[in-house]
Parts: sequence; structure tokens; C-alpha cells
Amino acid sequence: MNAAAVPEGVAHGPFELRGPEATAAYGARLADRLPHGATLLLVGPLGAGKTTLVRALVAAAGGPDDATSPSYALVHAYPTPHGEVVHVDAWRLPDAASAERLALDEAGDHARWIVIEWGDLLAAAHPEAWRLVLDRPSGRDDLRIATLAAPEDR
Ligand SMILES: Nc1ncnc2c1ncn2[C@@H]1O[C@H](COP(=O)(O)OP(=O)(O)O)[C@@H](O)[C@H]1O
Ligand SMILES: [Mg+2]
Repeated sequence: MNAAAVPEGVAHGPFELRGPEATAAYGARLADRLPHGATLLLVGPLGAGKTTLVRALVAAAGGPDDATSPSYALVHAYPTPHGEVVHVDAWRLPDAASAERLALDEAGDHARWIVIEWGDLLAAAHPEAWRLVLDRPSGRDDLRIATLAAPEDR
């Protein structure tokens, strides 16, 4: 992928996201620009807004608007008009190898996107993935910082 393919407006962070609505709006913008079939690694601490972001991506893709952390199911696949959005929580998986198999089995070759919370646990297995870091500045509960890297920039 060349520089021209880096999505305008989302790849030049860090962006300040003031409130959950800003995280959701960022997710909707990202949905317009994330290529079909892309894998997105979500990186950031508990409470950073990873699931909020996934919910916005799924809704923007035409899927259900109630995506949640895949707590009891390790992988959720949300139907959308252009393929499934596969949502993985790598933290809950016993090891990266099983996570990998699980994700790929679920996704097949037809996923619209594969989105992985705690994505750095699987980063080595996904060199082609996009990576979105959500930071939670200490002492600021009203603010998150988003920084997106395209695959060639990781
Ligand atoms: N930009 C933001 N500013 C302030 N709060 C946010 C922001 N984005 C999300 N939140 C809130 O942070 C909390 C944790 O969000 P969540 O998406 O569950 O995080 P994670 O999945 O990373 O643990 C939620 O209450 C959510 O509404
Ligand atoms: Mg979460």
C-alpha cells in the first residue's frame, strides 16, 4: 500500500477525542476509509474506548448498533451488508496461536474487517494490519487520544 492509500483525515493523528461521542464519530469516519478485508489492531488500556470504537465501526458498516466486548464468546461476527465484521478480544484468549486459529476460522476469507481488541498480543501474526492506539491520559477521564498507523507505518 502506498502513501496515497493512507486515509485522509484519520491517518494523521494523534487526535483528541473529547467524550464517547467523539470516539464514536471517529469510528464512523474510520469506517469510510478502512479497506475491505482489513485487519485493525486496537491498542490501549482498559477503558480507553476500544469497544466504543468497535461499536461505531459495526454500526457505520450497516451492522447492529449494540456491539459489546466479546466477553463470553471470544469472537463475535456481526453481519453487515458487505460481509461480517469479526470482533476479537485477544486478552481473553488463552494464547496467541489459538487466537489466530479462532479468528481465521470465524472470519474465513469474506470478512469485511477483523477488529482485535488488545491487538498487540496478535500484532506479530498480523503484519498487514492497521493499528489504532487509544490512549487514556492520566487525570483526564473526559479525553482519549487516537493515533492510527497504516500497515506500512507500523
Ligand atoms: N473519547 C472519550 N472520552 C471520554 N470517555 C470515553 C471516550 N471514549 C469512550 N469513553 C468511555 O470510556 C469508557 C470505556 O469505554 P470502552 O469502549 O468500554 O473501553 P475499552 O473497550 O477500551 O475497555 C466508556 O464509559 C466509554 O463511554
Ligand atoms: Mg472493551
